[in-house]
Amino acid sequence: MFTEPVITRAWDHLDDSVRTGDVAFDAAFGTDFFSHLAQHPALSAQFNAAMSGAVAETTAALPHAFDFSRYTTVTDVGGGEGTLLAAILTAHPGLTGTVFDTAQGLAETPETVARHGLERRCSLVAGDFFHSVPEGSDLYLLKSVLHDWTDDQAVTILGHCRDVLPPGGLILIVEPILPETATPAPGTDPRTNPSDAGDGGVTYLSDLNMLVNLGGRERTRGDFEKLCHRAGLTLTSVTSLTDAAPFSLIHAIAR
Ligand SMILES: C[S@@+](CC[C@H](N)C(=O)[O-])C[C@H]1O[C@@H](n2cnc3c(N)ncnc32)[C@H](O)[C@@H]1O
Repeated sequence: MFTEPVITRAWDHLDDSVRTGDVAFDAAFGTDFFSHLAQHPALSAQFNAAMSGAVAETTAALPHAFDFSRYTTVTDVGGGEGTLLAAILTAHPGLTGTVFDTAQGLAETPETVARHGLERRCSLVAGDFFHSVPEGSDLYLLKSVLHDWTDDQAVTILGHCRDVLPPGGLILIVEPILPETATPAPGTDPRTNPSDAGDGGVTYLSDLNMLVNLGGRERTRGDFEKLCHRAGLTLTSVTSLTDAAPFSLIHAIAR
């Protein structure tokens, strides 16, 4: 997916995006990334499959890295093909769940649900998280969603999750955490090898990819604390998912 011409075209205008903060994708294609996917179902299917592939390590690690047994129903907001939620529900037979995404994001999800035999425990809801998030779950999951968006947009998404939770309710955010300061590994050259970029490594490349293609960004713990605070949430803990690097598990509690 990352060498797909639709993705790399915006990188040709990296300098413009860095100078202006504007989203190069929108200028090149005359629309935003997800609207473009909505107009191109084959590309959208390719994107959904790429996300599903990229989530493989988290799928193996997350069901055992968090105590899901305390919850009865979980909504995966922007859950795409449903690969992650299917793994969580398979590992925790007492749990039911909902994949919430756009209509094009959910196009391939019924196959995932059927493949895992989860038709009775997993529902699909199509909608727009800038409008609202389905109520009724006692746990909300946001994996690789906030980094697609600006701070203001991320606060809106978090706020809508907050709106459907009682005080004390939990949102589980799964994203990489950038270090507060970039520190290249000693004796290495991150200009020629991004994986040499010390702490944060390839997440800095993802940060630029979000800038040029979506207008989003990767974030530090401090950044997440500010987003959560603005959305009526308190960030209470960050633990790295060691078997699914570079992802961390961020707990955001409704105030
Ligand atoms: C980067 S993908 C992450 C997918 C999945 N959570 C994962 O980690 O593999 C972002 C997801 O957000 C969904 N999305 C984008 N805009 C949305 C909107 N306005 N409302 C609901 N979902 C949206 C996309 O369809 C996509 O499935």
